[in-house]
Amino acid sequence: MQLSKRISTLTGDGSDGWDVFNRARKMIASGEPVIELTIGEHDVRTDPTILAAMDASARGGHTGYATVAGVNALRERVASRLTERTGVATRPGNVMITPGGQSALYSAHHAVCDEGDVALFIDPYYATYPGTIRGVGAVPRAIPTDASDAFQPGRDALEAAAPGARSLLINSPNNPTGVVYDRATLERIAQTCIAHDIWLISDEVYDTQVWEGTHLSPRALPGMLERTLVVGSMSKSHAMTGSRCGWIVGPEAVIEHLITLATHTTYGVPGFVQDAAIYALDQGPALEDKVSAPFRRRRDLAQKVLGAQNAVTAVPSQGAMYLMLDIRATGLSGEEFANALLDAHKIAVMPGESFGQAAAGHLRVAMTVEDEVFLEALERLCAFAASYT
Ligand SMILES: Cc1ncc(COP(=O)(O)O)c(C=O)c1O
Repeated sequence: MQLSKRISTLTGDGSDGWDVFNRARKMIASGEPVIELTIGEHDVRTDPTILAAMDASARGGHTGYATVAGVNALRERVASRLTERTGVATRPGNVMITPGGQSALYSAHHAVCDEGDVALFIDPYYATYPGTIRGVGAVPRAIPTDASDAFQPGRDALEAAAPGARSLLINSPNNPTGVVYDRATLERIAQTCIAHDIWLISDEVYDTQVWEGTHLSPRALPGMLERTLVVGSMSKSHAMTGSRCGWIVGPEAVIEHLITLATHTTYGVPGFVQDAAIYALDQGPALEDKVSAPFRRRRDLAQKVLGAQNAVTAVPSQGAMYLMLDIRATGLSGEEFANALLDAHKIAVMPGESFGQAAAGHLRVAMTVEDEVFLEALERLCAFAASYT
């Protein structure tokens, strides 16, 4: 039987750049002691108090179908969180709760792109972006950035890609680069969207992980309210990756269509998960800071290690749980280096190439193991790079 073109071409052609990750997983499964710095997941589990709220909700009977758009109390919490953080008045009608940011990204593209429309995204990119875009029948078009500009998109690249495009997907704080877009970049992006009548999809799932500068949501920029869809999630901010709870914020008319889409696809998010998210959001920044603290601390430790050597250059690490390291001085590609590092030192990191051509010759290091192990891995990585220079 023949499958649809859409599903069979979802991940595109060629190597998916996940060979190192797959090899590391196999080594771990066969008992080898690999230091795993590949995946963006906390080394702590969901806070026990959040689990207690989830348990109480489930035992209290919230195990039936929940309202498709999300329970009102959670839509309210998300709306007031955005109002407080961005200064833009946001109502529950501007919010739909989704099964994680991933589903929100898919739904947002579904809402604004027709079959064959060009959907822009910035290279380097979170690995699933092109597949998400293909999944709705749109055509992914990458906007290249350069390490020398801290991977922030420049005006020329934006203007070259924009004509005829329907949407632009951005992500700040950024996975994989750890870069936080500055106001000038966001204004440039906004101007491009307005000039070319493009929807902006702003993936802000790392908004609580900012080590330098400030997180700005482009939805708050002049002229952007009616053309921006913000994607958010409890995954990274509250270590709730497995709970699958996120949201889309946008104009009410778009949210209404998205609720219709959810009615025919996901049918919403479990009520007990949403109640746990309400509890978690009610704890305010204290809990968010507790979850993000290990990454902030490890990023500071990494700055010291990286500052004391010159085989590896760090891209400014301003946010999110990753370091982007430039290893071009070794003469190796990111893939070659990551494979060699795994063989020689049993340290698994992601080759930059897994996240697009703009990150070639780089490595993404997830700061997701305890401090001592992380430091040791980073020191060994730098010494390994030095052996090639
Ligand atoms: C940039 C970015 N967006 C979205 C997601 C999806 O997160 P979730 O579906 O767990 O909310 C991730 C997960 O790693 C991510 O890194």
